Amino acid sequence: MTKTPIEYAEWTTLKTHAQDMKKHTLAGHFANNPARQEELTKTVDMLRFDYSKNHITSETLALFKTYSEAVGLNDLRGKLLGGEVVNQSENRPALHTALRARDPIVSSGGEPVAERVRSERAKLFDVAGKLRAGEIVAADGAPFKHIIFLGIGGSSLGPALLMKALGYSNTSAFDVHIVSNIDGHALMPVLDACEAARTLLIVASKTFTTTETLTNADTVRRWMKDAGVSDLNAHLMGVTAAPEKAKEYGVPADNVLPFAEWVGGRYSLWSAISAPVVFAYGAQVFEEFLAGADAVDQHFAKAPFEDNIPILSACLDVWYTNFWDAQTRGLFVYDDRLGLLPDYLQQLETESNGKDRTQDGQDVTWQTSPILWGGVGTDCQHSVFQLMHQGTHLVPVEFIGTKNADHTESLHHRKLLANMFAQSAALMRGRSVEEATEKLIAKGVNSDTLDHLAASKSFRGDRPSTTILLERLTPRALGNLIAFYEHKTFVAGMLVGINPYDQMGVELGKELATELEGVIAGDTALPEGYDASTKALIDYLQS
Ligand code: F6P
Repeated sequence: MTKTPIEYAEWTTLKTHAQDMKKHTLAGHFANNPARQEELTKTVDMLRFDYSKNHITSETLALFKTYSEAVGLNDLRGKLLGGEVVNQSENRPALHTALRARDPIVSSGGEPVAERVRSERAKLFDVAGKLRAGEIVAADGAPFKHIIFLGIGGSSLGPALLMKALGYSNTSAFDVHIVSNIDGHALMPVLDACEAARTLLIVASKTFTTTETLTNADTVRRWMKDAGVSDLNAHLMGVTAAPEKAKEYGVPADNVLPFAEWVGGRYSLWSAISAPVVFAYGAQVFEEFLAGADAVDQHFAKAPFEDNIPILSACLDVWYTNFWDAQTRGLFVYDDRLGLLPDYLQQLETESNGKDRTQDGQDVTWQTSPILWGGVGTDCQHSVFQLMHQGTHLVPVEFIGTKNADHTESLHHRKLLANMFAQSAALMRGRSVEEATEKLIAKGVNSDTLDHLAASKSFRGDRPSTTILLERLTPRALGNLIAFYEHKTFVAGMLVGINPYDQMGVELGKELATELEGVIAGDTALPEGYDASTKALIDYLQS
């Protein structure tokens, strides 16, 4: 059995250090070290990270460095990037970095990697070029206008994020609709908005077995048939790691855009899963996105611990969740175009690290992934920020914004960033009861209400945050950002001793849903083992 995190003396040292750190304030750390901001600000390619408003000192980082050495982080990183098996339960490597490397590793476990990546990308770009040039056409010989892209989880969150993030600065060659949910309320409005004869259907599923995606695909195909499309398969493309299944479904071989098994679903936006982005905005945009990720891969592989942003951010997560009792992390984007980033990262981080067993099956008695939540600033300031400032939970926050906007209304951008900076400053600074009292007296508040009002208007402060600024929201910067979070997630997984690359926790619910569908339809009886609550819910549906 491998040693678990809590069995390391270095873990215990971190715990003791946290007790000591709780006696200090963020403001105190700044006062004690005039160079703090500079020391804790790191830049990589188009990203700037300011970690200085966190409850850490150089000692904290030194202790984490010692702990990471004890768990063998450098070797584990080497295994990941070298294409060794890091996903033990599924016995495969996690080679998403090969999809964006200028020089991908040649092979892994005897399988070609570089050659495969190049040929799959060449096919993606070739199909994109032909579609955009109107050389791949609909059954009636006219070009496609609409794209309905069906996929869920890792097979949709990435393209949806990219379409929105890059849509402001790039003109789309197609009217793209991404549908993930099996809820007909999601699909029907899309069908209403598209003309079947002009619609290309892309079915994206790594396994090509996912019920939501295939049910939606069947419905779209029926809609096309009902509308008189003569050759349904001419309107169909598949993106998958199971090409044979896609072909069985009817996707013509030329229309299958494959990717490898060793690309995890939530790491697949570097592959043909991003087909709608390439079709809509062109290959060059996608290449810049890949190059941005490659730049961060190089950084992750080579930068020393003290400067390595994925490693530092992972340490912060482990620090707060395990030693400061934080159960969640808030992530607020101050760029509307990044509105889907919190959703995207929720899958990346929580499906990767939300686990209660170690790699070798031991029970976890420490914390693994924090619950990631968040939204868009400034909107969230008028909803959940009350809890962030005065609530009873410690919520370490990440603020993400862009230095340069792509619109010309500088007033808006100035106000947006002023708000972002103000929030992190306010979370840290707080306001004492005395300060609140003074303000109230200045406003002429009378003594009857002064005390309780001053208490309500005070803020304990000392709440940690990290500020991440993109120089500009370009495809490259977005590649930087997502690759950063991928590596951060990997490192956090290694520090807490779990396998970030499987997701067995989603299976039980899927199995039961399949059983219950038959029961709800009245085709089968409710199997043994169900509870009275579930039975009553089904009875109610059938009544
Ligand atoms: O439900 C979890 C999951 O397996 C994700 O990991 C994955 O991204 C998603 O379902 C979709 O799977 P597929 O691409 O095979 O349809």
